Amino acid sequence: MSDVILQAQGLTQIYGAGTPFEKTAVNNVSFELYENEFIGVIGHTGSGKSTLIQMLNGLMKPTSGTVLFRGKDVWEKKFDRRSLRANVGLVFQYPEYQLFEETVEKDIAFGPRNMGLSEDQISARVQEGMYFTGLSEQLRDKSPFELSGGQKCRVAIAGILAMRPQVLILDEPTAGLDPKGCNEILSNIRTYQKEENATVILVSHSMEDIAAYAGRVMVLEQGSLKMFGDTPSVYARGEELLAMGLNVPQITRVFLSLSKRYESLPSVLSPEQAVRCLDEITGGAK
Ligand SMILES: Nc1ncnc2c1ncn2[C@@H]1O[C@H](COP(=O)(O)OP(=O)(O)OP(=O)(O)O)[C@@H](O)[C@H]1O
Ligand SMILES: [Mg+2]
Repeated sequence: MSDVILQAQGLTQIYGAGTPFEKTAVNNVSFELYENEFIGVIGHTGSGKSTLIQMLNGLMKPTSGTVLFRGKDVWEKKFDRRSLRANVGLVFQYPEYQLFEETVEKDIAFGPRNMGLSEDQISARVQEGMYFTGLSEQLRDKSPFELSGGQKCRVAIAGILAMRPQVLILDEPTAGLDPKGCNEILSNIRTYQKEENATVILVSHSMEDIAAYAGRVMVLEQGSLKMFGDTPSVYARGEELLAMGLNVPQITRVFLSLSKRYESLPSVLSPEQAVRCLDEITGGAK
């Protein structure tokens, strides 16, 4: 069993407390995450996903509750929250706002440089970040502002990856990418996760992407953690998810309907799994 890396204890965030606009965005959320796992976070718009993850790297102080990184309370006076930002890397929901340097190279180098690495190490990290996000060499000296939405998104992810975070948090990172680009990046991120024994937290509206990559899934509803379990068991609760306005993959929905007539059908997350399942039932392909 892997070690616990991040713990949320009773995390609560109230915006505008004491004003007429008071809003409890995250309400008493607790969980434990392990090294070397891929976590999906889903929830309706406004359910508190972005607020929750911004509390996980010490960027936003919770109204109450706390976060433990490797067993240490990140809000203790002596805790080094600056180094936490390199250990728990966060790619924001709108990555284009995360870019600010003159060139792609400088932008990706910013995090590693702040970590005090040598020029050689920085350049190796830039290379690595560009490789993992599929950025071509020609883009190295371009201004990030000349890039397409998808390329900006890749640069933002590369800059965080270049710090080699032990926990990588991605908030809807692939919104500006086409499905092929999106798959390419997510599978590279999975490779990174496995190679580094890292923990990845992926916030996404795509239930297909979450199904394809996440081992465990968190479901947020109005700031509360409604479900947290391994992906098949969460997706098996398709009707509850649909009632929350979440789009369960089509194939999962078809199998859920069929399972009302054929009791032995399991919950499936992808067309490939559906084929395997039918092969088993029918004794294999013709
Ligand atoms: N800075 C803020 N000040 C006041 N209210 C906020 C602030 N940021 C978010 N909220 C409110 O807190 C709630 C949770 O917002 P949050 O952005 O965390 O949700 P989300 O699940 O990330 O939504 P989305 O899927 O649209 O990105 C929403 O009702 C939102 O309007
Ligand atoms: Mg959000």
